[in-house]
Amino acid sequence: MSSEKEPNLPGDDELARMDRDELVRLGTKLDGVEIVDYPTPWPVEGTRAEKRAERIVALWFALCAISGLAFVVALVWWPWRYEPPTDETGHFWYSLYTPVLGVTLGVSVLALSVGVLLYAKKFVPQELAIQQRHDGGGEGSPELDKQTIVAQLADSGQRSTIARRSLVKRTLGAGAGALGLATVVLPLAGFIRDPWKNSENKESLWHTGWQPLFPGEVVYLRRNTGNSHEISLVRPEDLDAGAMETVFPFRESERDDEHALSQALKRSDNPVMLIRLRPADAARVIKRKGQEDFNYGDYYAYTKICSHVGCPTSLYEQRTNRILCPCHQSQFDALQYAKPVFGPATRALAQLPITVNEEGYFVARGDFIEAIGPGFWERKS
Ligand code: FES
Repeated sequence: MSSEKEPNLPGDDELARMDRDELVRLGTKLDGVEIVDYPTPWPVEGTRAEKRAERIVALWFALCAISGLAFVVALVWWPWRYEPPTDETGHFWYSLYTPVLGVTLGVSVLALSVGVLLYAKKFVPQELAIQQRHDGGGEGSPELDKQTIVAQLADSGQRSTIARRSLVKRTLGAGAGALGLATVVLPLAGFIRDPWKNSENKESLWHTGWQPLFPGEVVYLRRNTGNSHEISLVRPEDLDAGAMETVFPFRESERDDEHALSQALKRSDNPVMLIRLRPADAARVIKRKGQEDFNYGDYYAYTKICSHVGCPTSLYEQRTNRILCPCHQSQFDALQYAKPVFGPATRALAQLPITVNEEGYFVARGDFIEAIGPGFWERKS
């Protein structure tokens, strides 16, 4: 039970005649709060120290605005496409993309926080008040409480002197606006730089290095001997039953192109596992609908890029016919179109359609028919 003394409540006429200061005092009394000290941070307006404090706060808000805008500009226009290290300039700018985003957004949020904290510290009065504990009625606020709380809020606003500090208001508005713009642009940026646009473009995520550059182009399966100039094509007799070999695309037009030969071995979506099943296992294969002719006899080719988050699924266990991804232990069944049978991966490894040409070499019959790598909503399984 509260022991505090209830203040005399004013009538409606008296309430209407009260100014804001009186309403503030009445409001604090009604809440059982006694203001002991309520100093104005800058009792003399317009001093050099006050102006300096205002400029410092404005500086932080301006930094927030500039950095927020820089983030938006970098998000949309910075060179974000991968450039190989062989293109030194392109690779340099591309490698800065993520750090630039992190720094600009981080500085913007930090500057806004510092600005708000500094303003509260320098300009908002730090009153000393004592409040008695009391039980609430729980029946909603009467008119008296509403008016006094509005007066208290208005008083706080006035005492913070924000109304007459146009520099601070303008820079705060610019900073908050830039950050707001960043939060709007962030989800839209993926559409502005739509990686699915130009799906026929060989750089599109829909395609890999296995895509023929022109209709009818032969793309061979090539092994990596450690020397990018050495072309070692793969024949069926090169693999024993139960063996696996990693292969890369090779096209005759690139035979003398040092750069293209090296890139074919480095491009991240190129590595493919060529697996030769043992005859007894091959008899148990279940093929995926639409991919019934993707294999050549007992030979099956699957991308090495895990459908979970893209690690190389480098391990093939002959005894169980399982393909293992060492990153998070996903396992794929080579006898069932490399569908996941264990671990976090939920989608099958994409299968490369292959055959053997009249010269006896393995060739791809086309690119993968679906995007490889980490699962995303465009993939069906
Ligand atoms: S990347 Fe392969 S299991 Fe996670």
